Amino acid sequence: MFKYLELDENEPVRTRYGRAVAQHTINETDEIKDIVPWDKFKLVVDIGAGNGQVGAHLTKHHKNLHIINQDMENVIADRIKELSLAPAEEQASFREVDFEPQDYYAPQTRTDADAYLIRFVLHNNNDENCVKILKAVVPALAANKNGEHARLLVAERVMPEWDTDKSAQLKQQRIEDMAMLISCSGKQRSVAELEALLKKADPALEIDQIYCGKDVFQVLSVRYAQAP
Ligand SMILES: C[S@@+](CC[C@H](N)C(=O)[O-])C[C@H]1O[C@@H](n2cnc3c(N)ncnc32)[C@H](O)[C@@H]1O
Repeated sequence: MFKYLELDENEPVRTRYGRAVAQHTINETDEIKDIVPWDKFKLVVDIGAGNGQVGAHLTKHHKNLHIINQDMENVIADRIKELSLAPAEEQASFREVDFEPQDYYAPQTRTDADAYLIRFVLHNNNDENCVKILKAVVPALAANKNGEHARLLVAERVMPEWDTDKSAQLKQQRIEDMAMLISCSGKQRSVAELEALLKKADPALEIDQIYCGKDVFQVLSVRYAQAP
């Protein structure tokens, strides 16, 4: 699906997709600003950031933050063009946000960030692709910054273990699970499934915190554990 969206001639549908994702996840864009202790971080890379609305919202509420939005070349080019034509107020909301093209399968070029956010990206991918995406960020996580390792923040609508929950949110999750399968061979994953992908990418990756939203949205804080 993303190869199709990235084709030059598909700019209108690419823009529609970006707007649809931003709208569909608007509650989580607000939730994430509250559930993660952002005061610990200064520079954050948002991998597969899409429209970049998360970065704009976070930097509005956390003045310590600067965000680098990374996405595919045409997605980034569209957004830069769109914002250059946007009203001054909208442009101002992106003052602390930069855009740069970066293929998430390629080794992460930013090694100086305090955190790497990857929100609603893994669910668009099968297990094999997820492992490639996670592997690409490992060298940046392992880079030691002032004695502290950076964190990977994996943000997803997390699937409860099968049949442990009958809530309305879970029904919605099952629909989204099928939508991910049909559109891009992806899936909604449980914490255990996400953890298995992390370990497959690198056994040194370990979840050190889980920040929970009020429904199924969770942010897994992942660190690169130093050898003893
Ligand atoms: C479901 S959207 C999530 C957007 C954003 N993270 C959010 O939470 O609103 C998935 C994003 O992954 C991006 N993407 C897909 N393939 C990519 C690739 N190879 N490299 C970088 N980004 C990619 C898409 O362009 C899209 O913006």
